[in-house]
Amino acid sequence: MELDTFVSKLARSIPPSGIRRFFDIAATMEDVISLGIGEPDFTTPAPIVEAGIAALQRGATHYTSNSGLIELRQAIAAHVQKLYGLSYDPGQEVLVTVGVSEALYVAMAALLDPGDEVVLAEPCFVAYEPTAMMVGAKPVTVATTPETGFQLTAEMIEAAITPKTKALFLASPNNPTGAVINRERLSAIAALATQHNLVVISDEIYDRLVYGVEHVCFASLPGMRERTVVLQGFSKAYAMTGWRVGYMMGAETLLAEMRKLHQYLIMSAPTVSQWAALKALEVGEPFVQEMHAHYERRRRLVVDSLNAMGLACIEPQGAFYAFPNIENTGLDDNVFAERLLQEEHVAVIPGRVFGASGVGFVRVSYATAYEKLEIALERIARFVQRTK
Ligand SMILES: Cc1ncc(COP(=O)(O)O)c(C=O)c1O
Repeated sequence: MELDTFVSKLARSIPPSGIRRFFDIAATMEDVISLGIGEPDFTTPAPIVEAGIAALQRGATHYTSNSGLIELRQAIAAHVQKLYGLSYDPGQEVLVTVGVSEALYVAMAALLDPGDEVVLAEPCFVAYEPTAMMVGAKPVTVATTPETGFQLTAEMIEAAITPKTKALFLASPNNPTGAVINRERLSAIAALATQHNLVVISDEIYDRLVYGVEHVCFASLPGMRERTVVLQGFSKAYAMTGWRVGYMMGAETLLAEMRKLHQYLIMSAPTVSQWAALKALEVGEPFVQEMHAHYERRRRLVVDSLNAMGLACIEPQGAFYAFPNIENTGLDDNVFAERLLQEEHVAVIPGRVFGASGVGFVRVSYATAYEKLEIALERIARFVQRTK
């Protein structure tokens, strides 16, 4: 039987993620230091874990409201008010999701019709383009480069706008470049969104991981709250990737449609995780600060070491990634990553996995212990030396 004839054209049209391949190779080797991971190396802080256990023990094993626990939505609204001065109605304008991953899909499915174009910057998180394709929309990518510190600008977006452009997708801080779009550039982008009447989806999952710069919540810019859907989550700041909990915020008219899709797709985000997330908002701040301090120290080590070994690396201002250019080794990013893994047992991700403009770069995650990073960087330096 030709089973592949059962597969839809849509599913077939979506390429597999290039990240997995490296993890599969790395898993067969011993003594590998992985700088490939996109998640905190820390385990979830103890009080948050305990809140999850306590929830299970008291029988919180049922569905919650489709939108999520009202206590959690209230805490989210208070948190966002405190951080960004934005007020969302926890009843109608906050939706708890299965991570930003689900929020991404629900936002795109609720806002984009087949054929609509969504402009997004590359290099970018691997799920953006496939998710747009899953809803039949057309992702139109704009290449960012080290010249603008990988920040997206209004000029770049404007050049990509066509009569079919419906939405703009923002991701600041960015995975894989660590770029944080500054207020001035965001304000110019906001003016463009108004001028072209674009709806904006803003993935701000790394908002708490910025170093020496401010994170501007796009919806907090004048006039942007109504046309922006903010995607947020607990995975990165609170080291809660496995709990699968995130949230989205936006105007009631938009959120009502997203809630409907979420209801049929998911029913409600995991109950135990929602109780844990509530605890994270209640007591998590010192842990966020502590992990932030670790990332900041590691970032200094990684960026300085990569530049010292001749791999030009812009200063990443957010998230936990460095994105050095490796072209002066004479290798392409795929070969660089493969040989580094085979010869020195260090896993990094080739930049092309994050889009065509990532060719010639690799993503180095510093969500790894400082001591391991030191060893990995020695190995990379030795490898780079050998390629000269
Ligand atoms: C930029 C970005 N957005 C979203 C996600 C997905 O996060 P979640 O765990 O909330 O689904 C990731 C995970 O790596 C990410 O890097």
